Amino acid sequence: MTTNAETTTSTGTTAGAPEIRVRGLHKSFGDNEVLRGIDLDIRQGEVVCVIGPSGSGKSTLLRCVNLLEEPTRGQVFVGGTEVTDPDVDIDAVRRRIGMVFQQFNLFPHLTVTENLTLPQRRVLKRDKAEAARVAAENLQRVGLAEKAAAYPSSLSGGQQQRVAIARALAMGPEVMLFDEPTSALDPELVGDVLAVMRMLANDGMTMMVVTHEMTFAREVADRVVFMDGGVIVEEGAPEQVIGDPSHERTRHFLSRLLDPAMAEVGEAPERLDKADG
Ligand SMILES: Nc1ncnc2c1ncn2[C@@H]1O[C@H](COP(=O)(O)OP(=O)(O)OP(=O)(O)O)[C@@H](O)[C@H]1O
Ligand SMILES: [Mg+2]
Repeated sequence: MTTNAETTTSTGTTAGAPEIRVRGLHKSFGDNEVLRGIDLDIRQGEVVCVIGPSGSGKSTLLRCVNLLEEPTRGQVFVGGTEVTDPDVDIDAVRRRIGMVFQQFNLFPHLTVTENLTLPQRRVLKRDKAEAARVAAENLQRVGLAEKAAAYPSSLSGGQQQRVAIARALAMGPEVMLFDEPTSALDPELVGDVLAVMRMLANDGMTMMVVTHEMTFAREVADRVVFMDGGVIVEEGAPEQVIGDPSHERTRHFLSRLLDPAMAEVGEAPERLDKADG
């Protein structure tokens, strides 16, 4: 279990309160109960990697944290604010949460800079000069300053994903949620995106990362959470959960990741049903 940090955070969060707190979270789609009681605390500055088989509810959990999905039952707090409170200003909460998906979702008809300035101007009402300054700063951060005037179609997938990360950072989020940010990339482009995420982690960003990148999880995560069938089966330090898992389900999952050829017919495919976007 997480121990609470006893310091006051730069964002003014109550001392000791976790940045993300999930309590008794359930989510059903019709008769399909996808999340079956999730409890999770993430401290400020902590990096938590969520792993687990396809359909185990990883994306749904992430989407419940910023209310892209409405939980059926339970509570979610971000920065001490209950986002599941029906009276909460959800737009205000969402501004504090950056989200990066497998698909980059950049506007193809806008330049890289315009992709970064548009949401700042629309949502945060920043003026043109300020939005441009913040855009330039964050493009620099992800190593793409020289692509400011380029259109997304002229960039590699890895560069587009770094632009998507910069776009999220330009909104000044307190936490960043990543849902398989490297799964749509050619293998040789994965490293640059992971390097940016590693930098963010080193800078103290609170991060929740759904990923199949076990090397990244081992090296960057403070904690790894293994989900299966809508519950957290085990969680702990990466060297424990990945290196020496306690549960058979975790061991089974990890062995399939290492050697996909071991999968048997009828088993849920791990990497093939990725058309969800
Ligand atoms: N909007 C939706 N409507 C109906 N069912 C959904 C919806 N979103 C997800 N599900 C179902 O919820 C279950 C969990 O899906 P989820 O996307 O959270 O899994 P996941 O762990 O992220 O899987 P993957 O590794 O394939 O991305 C699946 O059975 C899926 O079909
Ligand atoms: Mg998913």
